[in-house]
Amino acid sequence: MSTKTRNLPACRQGRKHKTFLSLSSSQTEKLGRELAGKVFKFPSNKGAVVVGLIGDLGGGKTTFIKGFAKGLGVKEKILSPTFVVMRRFEIDDLRFKNFYHFDCYRIKNPKEILELNFKEIISYPKNIVCLEWADRIKKNVPKETVLIRFEFIDKKTRKISFKF
Ligand SMILES: Nc1ncnc2c1ncn2[C@@H]1O[C@H](COP(=O)(O)OP(=O)(O)O)[C@@H](O)[C@H]1O
Ligand SMILES: [Mg+2]
Repeated sequence: MSTKTRNLPACRQGRKHKTFLSLSSSQTEKLGRELAGKVFKFPSNKGAVVVGLIGDLGGGKTTFIKGFAKGLGVKEKILSPTFVVMRRFEIDDLRFKNFYHFDCYRIKNPKEILELNFKEIISYPKNIVCLEWADRIKKNVPKETVLIRFEFIDKKTRKISFKF
């Protein structure tokens, strides 16, 4: 399965494109944890820090977010929110206050996301927002979004590419 990124906003400018070959779910989690650490050093923004995750079903997006949330200091468990589109977690930090996990897998019309206060959430600089299946809500994905693409290679191998 390939994911089209053509119509998605460009990744943060001036960042090198990196590809990571993950050989286990714990490696994918670890990558999530490490990249979360970098978010704290992002220059301040007018809006939230938004990370868009795209690519194959079973590609490791939720697994990555588990590690990412841990890296942000979230104590609660991250689940695959199959029937819940959005969950919010508190972050104990001076700059960031909330971590939002959106799973847009079931969204049919990009407008649906707006009913969840999406615009306010992404415009608040104290929020960090992960958008699983960001390509399902293309129109509403802010242009500064950091995109991470997940590809299924084989049972244990995933190719993860990003500009972070
Ligand atoms: N290298 C890997 N990285 C991430 N997940 C892996 C890897 N190898 C095997 N898996 C398994 O693949 C599945 C990934 O599922 P998930 O993270 O929910 O994907 P997605 O959210 O992209 O649909 C999990 O069952 C996980 O244990
Ligand atoms: Mg998922």
